[in-house]
Amino acid sequence: MKVTVVGAGAVGASCAEYIAIKNFAAEVCLIDIKEGFAEGKAMDLMQCASLNGFDTKITGATNDYSKTAGSDVAVITSGIPRKPGMTREELIGINAGIVKTVATSILAHSPNAIIIVVSNPMDTMTYLVHQATNIPKSRIIGMGGALDSARFKYRLAEALGCPASDVEGMVIGGHSDTGMVPLIEKATRNSVNVAEFLAADKMDEIVEATKVGGATLTGLLGTSAWYAPGAAVSEIVKAIALDSQKMIPCSAMLDGEYALSDICIGVPCIIGKNGIERIVEVSLSDAEKAKMIESAEGVRGTNALLN
Ligand code: LAC
Repeated sequence: MKVTVVGAGAVGASCAEYIAIKNFAAEVCLIDIKEGFAEGKAMDLMQCASLNGFDTKITGATNDYSKTAGSDVAVITSGIPRKPGMTREELIGINAGIVKTVATSILAHSPNAIIIVVSNPMDTMTYLVHQATNIPKSRIIGMGGALDSARFKYRLAEALGCPASDVEGMVIGGHSDTGMVPLIEKATRNSVNVAEFLAADKMDEIVEATKVGGATLTGLLGTSAWYAPGAAVSEIVKAIALDSQKMIPCSAMLDGEYALSDICIGVPCIIGKNGIERIVEVSLSDAEKAKMIESAEGVRGTNALLN
C-alpha cells in the first residue's frame, strides 16, 4: 500500500511516523508546500527505520503531486492549526481553499485514493471534499471520532485507575468542543458498564474533559496536538490496509442514518479496503439522540459558512 500524507507539519509527520512504525504500508509519501520541508522530515523519519524496525519507505516532495501517484490512501492534514482560545470553526476561511485544492491535486494523480480528512473544522472539511470531488462517499473519511474516542478512553482510564486497554468507549457527533457526544452510558471496563464504578458527577466530568480534549492541549502546547491525531489516522489507514472491518467512529456522509442527511458527522463506521464499508446505527438513548441532533445543527451551521 502507498499512502500520501499532505502537510509535513507536526500532525502530518506524526501520521507518517505511526504508519511506518506499524509496518503495514510499502510507502508513505509526505508532501508540503514549504521547500525541502517534507524531504527533510522524510529523511529524519527514514533514519529511524533501523532503530524502530520498520520497512516502510518514507519519501518527501515539495508540492509535486506526481510523486504521490498511485496512492491507495491520502491523508489531508494541510492548513493552519488553531491557537489557544480559538475554535476549530474559526479556521474555515483559510483551510477550505487549501483542502479543496489538495483533494483535487491528489485525485489527479491517484484517482482511486481513499481520502482521510484531518484539517479543521474537520466535519465541514470532509463535507467540502464531497462537494469538490465526485468520488463515492465510502472513500471520504473524516478522522475526528477515532481521535475523540481515544481521548475519551484516556479520561475513562484515568478516572478508573486502569490501563486504557481495559476500557471501551466511543465518541460520535461533531469534532468540536460543543459537538462531541461521548457515549458514556455505553462505555465499559472489560464489558462492565463504567456506571458501576464511577459516580454520576465523575462521569459528567469525563464527558466534559473529553469534549474539550483538543482545546486543553492547545492551551498547554500553544498549537494543536499531533501525537494522538497521528496515531488515530494510522489506525484508520491500518484498517484499510488490512481490510480488517474494524468499527471506528469517523465522520461520514449520512443519507438517512441517525435521521440525518447531507451532512458529514461522526458515527460508527466499519472500515475496510473500500474505506467506509458500512455505517453502523447503534440504538441511542433519548438523551444521546438529543445531543446528536444538537451536534448536527452545529455542524450544519459551520457547513453554511462554506458559501
Ligand atoms: C485535535 C485537532 C487535530 O483535536 O482537531 O487535536
